[in-house]
This record gives sequence, structure tokens and C-alpha cells, in this order.
Amino acid sequence: MAGNGSTSENVLVLDFGAQYAQLIARRVREAGVYSEIVPGSTRADELTVLSPTALILSGGPASVYEPGAPQCDPAIFKLGVPVLGICYGHQLMAQALGGEVEHRDRREYGRTKLGLEADGGTLLRDLPLYQNVWMSHADAVIRPPDGFSVTACTDSTPVASMELPERGLYGVQFHPEVTHTDEGQQILTRFLRQVASLEPSWTIPSIIESTIQTVKAQIGDGRALCALSGGVDSAVAATLVHRAIGDRLTCVFVDHGLLRLGEAEQITRTFHDTLGINLIEVKAADRFLAALAGVDDPERKRKIVGETFIRVFEEVCSDLNDVRYLVQGTIYPDWIESGGDGSAAAIKSHHNVGGLPEHINLELVEPLRQLFKDEVRQLGSELGLPDEVVWRQPFPGPGLAIRIIGEVTQERLDLLRAADSIVRDEIHRADLDRDLWQAFAILPAIRSVGVQGDGRSYDYPIILRAVKSLDGMTADWARLSHDLLETLSRRIINEVDGVNRVAYDITSKPPGTIEWE
Ligand code: XMP
Repeated sequence: MAGNGSTSENVLVLDFGAQYAQLIARRVREAGVYSEIVPGSTRADELTVLSPTALILSGGPASVYEPGAPQCDPAIFKLGVPVLGICYGHQLMAQALGGEVEHRDRREYGRTKLGLEADGGTLLRDLPLYQNVWMSHADAVIRPPDGFSVTACTDSTPVASMELPERGLYGVQFHPEVTHTDEGQQILTRFLRQVASLEPSWTIPSIIESTIQTVKAQIGDGRALCALSGGVDSAVAATLVHRAIGDRLTCVFVDHGLLRLGEAEQITRTFHDTLGINLIEVKAADRFLAALAGVDDPERKRKIVGETFIRVFEEVCSDLNDVRYLVQGTIYPDWIESGGDGSAAAIKSHHNVGGLPEHINLELVEPLRQLFKDEVRQLGSELGLPDEVVWRQPFPGPGLAIRIIGEVTQERLDLLRAADSIVRDEIHRADLDRDLWQAFAILPAIRSVGVQGDGRSYDYPIILRAVKSLDGMTADWARLSHDLLETLSRRIINEVDGVNRVAYDITSKPPGTIEWE
């Protein structure tokens, strides 16, 4: 996975705790420098092969004294490459080079005042004498290794920042990668520019250009296929590949009838009408509905949708026998979360309808494999994709099939789509699109009594779900205003026949999940 076409700069983040490492790599890229994540245990000789221009040791949840705590190869400090240790990485550096790390019973956690020592050294010079930084640690470096100077401290951490500029070695106990550290991005940028002499070259236009060149080199004069799901990843992947090989790309959109209102039409409009991409649209809603008949169990629904998708896709492939490449929208987090061992596609296929069986013998083209989601979105905008595509909320591969709790029928799909479209409309009017991770409607297939007009109704409820989240792993239910909830309830009941009640889900994740199913 090493290397990228657009720049020879490569800042390697040694990972001692995944969520920290990803954030650091993203911040480095925001500073315009390419960055990749490698396991913390990577040996110095293995790192050399990757030609890093700087190393950053990430934070992590362990204590350097715990048995089995992740270690780094001490030889990495002799590679002659600048190193920045952050939190756990700072302690590892101190320990490896002969400093002293003390186990503390009390954690220093949250926003903390950092005070500069001497002139603050290379990373902190001319920054405010006191500034807020984010801390999250128990152990602390109490004596730096020989030769290092201490450049900042806090009330409970005597060595909150240290450096040995002659050897390009820097350590900070706080987290410059989080936004709660006032000068965090500035400190990282100083390390990249002043210490490692790296100029910004990782920019959206340069990523587009280099990806196009890489795709051209891989596909040559061959033909490629791309399955569009409606999501941003496959959309951006297809658009990039289209820029590279033009008409030799064919996109396939299997309309399974389980998308939200207007989404299928949007795909045709964007890809065929606006971008002029060859698009085969397979209208297969009836086939999916028939396959789902009588099925309640969400896992079976997922399986049926996945299998039916593959069968439809195989039929399309059999008509296109000169195609040798399959474009997939695998992104960098999919890749590293699968251990970076090439099984990222397996994760996608587990989660989405895009996974294909091995006997479809096509070589994978994964133009987004080095990119984070926010970079994919920026690329999408730069390539001219509309906001509805670029900022589309996460949506399950099996779509509305799993947002109907109970059997999927045409009537329930129509009803859910109508209610859901009111949710989208009102969230948009309230200018909350980018504030919320997701906002959608759920239809549990139960009925209850109500009174409407002159008579008694016996209809479905709609459940509203709106959550805030950074990555979908955890989520908080959104505190929508009572007025907005009132509007949603009124509109859904008045405008959607067959609904007589609206409820709002106030469960966070955990203990709930975001989707119902
Ligand atoms: P849960 O319900 O597990 O969902 O809290 C976490 C996030 O994942 C999305 N999700 C999916 N995304 N294919 C996807 O691409 C799927 O099959 C799928 N199922 C759930 C969900 O919408 C939420 O954002």
C-alpha cells in the first residue's frame, strides 16, 4: 500500500491505537502532505523500504509498563528521519532513549493549560505562553532522555513537550491532532514544514491528476465496469475512472426499488445526462420484491438483496464479455480496518450489495484506496458531482428493505418512501443536512388505532430517527427542536395515507444501533 503517484512525500504514522492514528494521518494530509498508517511494530528496516520523509508515533490506550504493551523498534530513532511522538508515542520515545516515564494513578484528561518552557522550542516558539491542549494519559515522562530540552509543561506533567532538534526528535504529551488543542494543526504543520522541510503537495487537483494517471496505467486500452449504488464512494470512483478511460467505462445501476424517493432518477440524471457516462440501468424492483416476499428476518433480507443483486449483475456481465476490470469504491479506512491485507473488498461485500463472487473474473480497480471520506467528498465536488451525491447520508446496501420492520411489500415501501421524503425535506429546510449523520424514517409493520376526521383509523406508525455521529461507530440522538418534530409529525400524518402516528427515537448508540432492522 506504500507510495502514491502524486508526491514523493510520505509521512508514516506508526499506529499504537487505531482511532488516534487515522486522525493524525488526516490532519497531516490537511496540511497538504501525504500520510499513511503502518503498524506500530514495523521494524526500522521495513520502514526504510517505504522511504518515509517523517515518522509520527501515535497515541494509544496502553501503558508503556503493561506486559505486552506495544513497543516500537528503537532503531527507528536512528534512521535520520524526523520523528514526532504523540502521547503514548512521546512516552515510547522517552523510554527508548533513556528518559524516565512514571506510572501515575490519576489520569490527566481533557482540556488542560499548557505552559511554555524556555522559548517553546521549534514546535511552540511564538505561540501563546499558555494555551489549551487536549490530554488523555495516565503515565507521564518525568525526565527527558539526555540531550533533550523540555519545551512545555502542565500542572501535573513536567515534560509535556521535549525536543532534540539536532537529531530531528520531538515528543508531545498532548494531542495536536484533535481540535480541542488550540494550536494543534499549527504545531503539526511546523513539524512537517520546519522540521521535515515538507512542502504542501497533496492537494485535490494533484490527487485527481495522479489517480487518473494510475488508472490509465492499470487499465491501458481495456474496458471496465462499475456498479453504482447511489453512494458517494462508487460515484466518485466511477467519475474518476471515466476521466481516465472515457467511453471504455460502463456503469451498471441495478435499481432494486429499495432506494429513497428520487434517488434512482438522480443517478440516471447525474451519470448519463450530466456526465455522459455509459450507463446500463437495470430496473429490477419487481424481482427484488418477489425475492423478499414473506421474509421478516433482517439478516435474510440482507442476504436475499445481496444474492439477487449478484445474479442481476452476472447477467449484465455475461453480455459484456470484453470487460476485464471492475471499479470499486474501496476507501482508505476500509482498507486499513481490514488490516491493509487486501481483504478490504470482503468488508465492502459484507456490508454492501457491491461485493461480487470470485468467479466473476475481473481485475479490481480501486482509485479511492488511499483516500479518507472527506477527501473523497472534496474530490467529488471538484469533479462536478452534485451536492446530493457528494453529501448523501450513509445508506444501507439493502436500503429500505431493512427500514421496514416486518415483510417488505410495495404498499409499505411507497408509504415509507413518502414519509422519508418529508423527513429529508424538513431537515433540509432547517439547514441540518450537514449537522446530522443521518435522519430518516422507519416503518414497523404494526398498526394501531387512531381518530382521523370523522372516523377511527387503524394504521401504521412512522418512527423518526436522527443522529449525530463522527463515524457511525457511536451516535447520539439529535436534539431536534419540538417545533421541527411537530412539523414532521403533522406533515407525515396529513400527507401520507396509511400513517396515523409518529414517534421519535431517543436512543443513542450504544445501546441502540443507528438502523432499526
Ligand atoms: P448501525 O445500524 O450498525 O449502522 O448502527 C452504522 C452505520 O452503518 C450504516 N449501515 C450500512 N452502510 N451498507 C452500508 O454501506 C450496509 O449494509 C449498512 N448497514 C448499516 C448505517 O446506516 C449507519 O450509518
